[in-house]
Amino acid sequence: MTQPGGPPGDTRHALVGPAEVWEKQREFQIGFLLSHGLQPSHYLLDIGCGTLRGGIPLIRFLEVGRYYGIDVRADVLEEARQELRENNLEEKQPDIRHTPSLSEVTFALSFDFIWAFAVLIHMTDDVADDCLALVARSLAAGGRFYANVNINVVREKGRWFGFPVVARPLGFYGQLAGKHKLEIRDLGSMREIRRGIDGGGVETSHMLEFRRAAQS
Ligand SMILES: C[S@@+](CC[C@H](N)C(=O)[O-])C[C@H]1O[C@@H](n2cnc3c(N)ncnc32)[C@H](O)[C@@H]1O
Repeated sequence: MTQPGGPPGDTRHALVGPAEVWEKQREFQIGFLLSHGLQPSHYLLDIGCGTLRGGIPLIRFLEVGRYYGIDVRADVLEEARQELRENNLEEKQPDIRHTPSLSEVTFALSFDFIWAFAVLIHMTDDVADDCLALVARSLAAGGRFYANVNINVVREKGRWFGFPVVARPLGFYGQLAGKHKLEIRDLGSMREIRRGIDGGGVETSHMLEFRRAAQS
């Protein structure tokens, strides 16, 4: 499929993962968030939004101005904007921002949902720390952050588009959550979560939920 003004669709899709599972990965994201209470009026921040694989259905579902997407790769965000145009969703006015450093990102609002799908698996420990700090300062009271992560004691698993592919013990995220005054809950393996949905997901990838810690 060749798109006017952009690379072939498969080339764009390959910028965020294997093209053959692109559709499944898109459908899973909105399905998961809807099953966890996402409403059209909610404000959602998509960290590492890439080409809007997950973002397009979310933008379609949310009310005008509710979707915010950030990514460290400017060229990939150009593809995201093209994807937005091709889906006739510019009228939804998503805020799509290039963010070279998560430590410098601020928003004038707070979010009901923050989402990072297949993103923390590409962050070094320092960047993951910056990410949790961003979540802590951007999450609304009662808001939730969901992120899937690779759980393992063997940390470095290779590279993807210049990013590391990392696995970390669950305790790493528990410590980061505590540092940023967040509560963490392991929702279980992606194999379990996706069983009966699309059969995707592996045992060593887990979905984590973070909320603001209750004030003591
Ligand atoms: C595997 S892709 C997933 C993209 C998207 N979440 C999806 O599901 O289609 C990972 C994305 O995270 C982005 N990313 C990695 N490190 C980042 C950082 N420090 N800040 C923002 N985005 C980052 C990459 O550029 C890439 O687009």
